[in-house]
Amino acid sequence: MDSAYDFSTGSRAQYEVALPKAKDFTDHLNRVTKNRAASTLKELYKYQSVPGMIVMAGGIPHPEVFPFETLSATVLAHDAFPLDPPRVPKKNKSVLSWLFSLPKPTISFTIPKYAPKPTDATTIQLSSSLQYAAATGPPALPLFLREYVSKVYRPAYADWDVLVNVGATDGWSKIVNMLVELGDAILVEEWTYPSAENTFLAYECERVPVKMDAEGILPEILEKVLSEWDEEKRGKRRPRILYTIPTGQNPTGATMQLDRKKQVYEICSRFDVIICEDEPYYCLYTGEWTPKGSKSDRSVLEQRLLDSQKKEGPEGNEAYIKSLPPSYLNVDTEGRVIRMDTFSKTSAPGSRLGWITANPLFIERLTRISEVSTQAPSGFATAMTTVMLQQWGFDGYIRWLRGIKATYNMRKTWICDAFADTFHLEFNQNKSLFPNGTRTITCYSRQEPRNRWDEKRDAHHKPLVTFTPPTAGMFIFLGVHVSEHPDYHDLVKKGENATQILVQKLWTNLADNLVLFAPGWYFDAGGEHAIGGNGYGYFRLSFSIATYEETYQAVERFAKVLDKFFHVK
Ligand SMILES: Cc1ncc(COP(=O)(O)O)c(C=O)c1O
Repeated sequence: MDSAYDFSTGSRAQYEVALPKAKDFTDHLNRVTKNRAASTLKELYKYQSVPGMIVMAGGIPHPEVFPFETLSATVLAHDAFPLDPPRVPKKNKSVLSWLFSLPKPTISFTIPKYAPKPTDATTIQLSSSLQYAAATGPPALPLFLREYVSKVYRPAYADWDVLVNVGATDGWSKIVNMLVELGDAILVEEWTYPSAENTFLAYECERVPVKMDAEGILPEILEKVLSEWDEEKRGKRRPRILYTIPTGQNPTGATMQLDRKKQVYEICSRFDVIICEDEPYYCLYTGEWTPKGSKSDRSVLEQRLLDSQKKEGPEGNEAYIKSLPPSYLNVDTEGRVIRMDTFSKTSAPGSRLGWITANPLFIERLTRISEVSTQAPSGFATAMTTVMLQQWGFDGYIRWLRGIKATYNMRKTWICDAFADTFHLEFNQNKSLFPNGTRTITCYSRQEPRNRWDEKRDAHHKPLVTFTPPTAGMFIFLGVHVSEHPDYHDLVKKGENATQILVQKLWTNLADNLVLFAPGWYFDAGGEHAIGGNGYGYFRLSFSIATYEETYQAVERFAKVLDKFFHVK
């Protein structure tokens, strides 16, 4: 695997040196960010670790008084999760026992307060990790992350860098802090992650929803919004930031591939928009769901890539990296993409650790913001995570990600299979929810007698639910056909918001029957929707936690509640 970044020396490789350098984006910094000076005291950290330096400058505690002499951990081995778990867990065994009772291979390590030979930048010792540190954190983790970014994302410009942070929420908050002026307009997907909105809505910002399909935002709509923006009429400048979740989008599960990204990038470049890609689910790109017993419509090449992904060793690792949708960084020749990554979904959310990849100006300004907010992430989290990554090595980390991906793929298969076994499914029948050639599944009740189905199918059958099987992440986004409800048209006639009233009622019925879905309206960024529209109520189902049995139970309860709700006999 060739790399643009030389991990051992920390220097750029030839290939990367030849790439263009980032453009100057000073114009995008807000007034507060332009005013920010380097924290005078924190500048001292840079010199503190120079060998031989007698440090008498800072108010730093002596490591002798740190109560932590060692930190030890037993962590799962990089190959603890199988690459090709069975579709159905073994009979009479709950998945918990199947997944968790077998002892998994582990490795153990201990981090001392003082490393015997603290010789290079990759050494982790508690006397340094638990000490005050520069906002960039101890160098070992950024070194690992640069290698990862270089090999997996392959940015298309030369002078990108990484900055560790306290997870994607922190990363986005700092980006907003750096770029947004009070009252700005910000481009978002029409359904989006509400916490991301809450970050900028407090800045009196206007969200500008862009219609999407199952691949994410529609370039022609983005172009229309930007080209028709009338600053005078809107009373604000044209949007300069796009917040997007390109892979396993939260909540819709949409995943954007390279061609669409190129189109979006070109438009953003033309209208000078900074693309902020928030990618917590990137490594959980799982591909299509194939119903049990059906032949997949994959090409020979696609099948070969899929088979390679099940192989151990470098071939499997290469195939996995190849299978991931290229990052926006991969088309970014100007440095206008800010990428947010997190360890929340690939290691543990409580570690509160992540990083940003961006151009050097943004990295420098974000560092200044970090100096006066979080400073460096917690030394405990950073030390433990870094040593774990070092023990696994780069290839081991990729193998770990593949194992995680395989478990999410298994869970996705359970829930899709549960729908197939509980409902009558029709494929590609209802395109209005997820347009643009995506594969949709429409669910009908199984309560209706078969002969009635066959004879008078259209007259008697109500489509209940439509969704697109997700290809990444941990969510299924369902559209419930509330317009099929017997009261729908009466409510509309009375001038009521029939969709909202009925979907709220259904959600309560589900909760009363001990099934909790996230209501779609939590994620609604407003505006006109390309996905669905009036008459559809939405729910987001997460398949990340429930056991196999619970997954089936939940879908069966959902089916029963729907039968009652829609008066299906
Ligand atoms: C799109 C998106 N961004 C960010 C986060 C939070 O990430 P972190 O734990 O790194 O703050 C989530 C978690 O659900 C998410 O779905």
